[in-house]
Amino acid sequence: MGEQPSDTAGRAHHVAIIMDGNGRWAKKRGLPRSVGHQRGVEAVRKLVRSLNGSGLECLTLYAFSSENWKRSEDEVDDLMNLMRKFIKSDLPEFIANNVKLKIIGDWQSLAPDIVEMLEDALAKTREGTHTVAVALNYGSQQEIVRAARKAANEGEITVEALQKHLDTADLPPLDLLIRTSGEIRLSNFLLWQSAYAEMLFVDTLWPDFTPAMLQQALDDFARRERRFGGR
Ligand code: FPP
Repeated sequence: MGEQPSDTAGRAHHVAIIMDGNGRWAKKRGLPRSVGHQRGVEAVRKLVRSLNGSGLECLTLYAFSSENWKRSEDEVDDLMNLMRKFIKSDLPEFIANNVKLKIIGDWQSLAPDIVEMLEDALAKTREGTHTVAVALNYGSQQEIVRAARKAANEGEITVEALQKHLDTADLPPLDLLIRTSGEIRLSNFLLWQSAYAEMLFVDTLWPDFTPAMLQQALDDFARRERRFGGR
């Protein structure tokens, strides 16, 4: 094949965010970590509201990792209770705003009442036009192992066969991965899917992240040049 024309990336279809910095946001203000998480949920809510009509097809959010169980029991309880509250309070708005909910990770092993709420929310948002994928009890290495096992059971492990069994198989390819709070690492999030994703690390702590900042990231992405290994 001849030389590929260099081009700018154009519109992003799928953005994922590692929402980091709730604890530091609270600490800076002398508040308990739980308040940081509450404000983190507020930031999620505003972002999800801003999606309708934005042209973005999918936003994937890292809400609870398989490693987050190592946090104190109180903090894990806080996060689970926030999840319960969030689904209950925001499901009608999700439906009204054409959000299609998707959950990735080992979410079926969460508390039975949460699993039930999520199943109900998935069913009620099935017709949505843009996806909000929430990573719950998610670890990318575990996801890849699960997918590899399924591919092996079917006979052959190839890139395509494995990809087909990832939790994200029905989502558009990941275009842009954002991490807030100044940390520069992936923390077991979408490792496979990030193979050709653009990366953006911002210093903003998650509760301070706004829809305007996402828009800025989308505008910057549109101007980037992507080669996918070509020239
Ligand atoms: C990182 O902040 C954030 C998390 C571990 C959880 C992210 C969760 C939310 C934003 C709220 C729940 C989401 C939904 C969708 C209901 P951190 O606690 O690691 O912050 P730190 O590194 O400053 O301590």
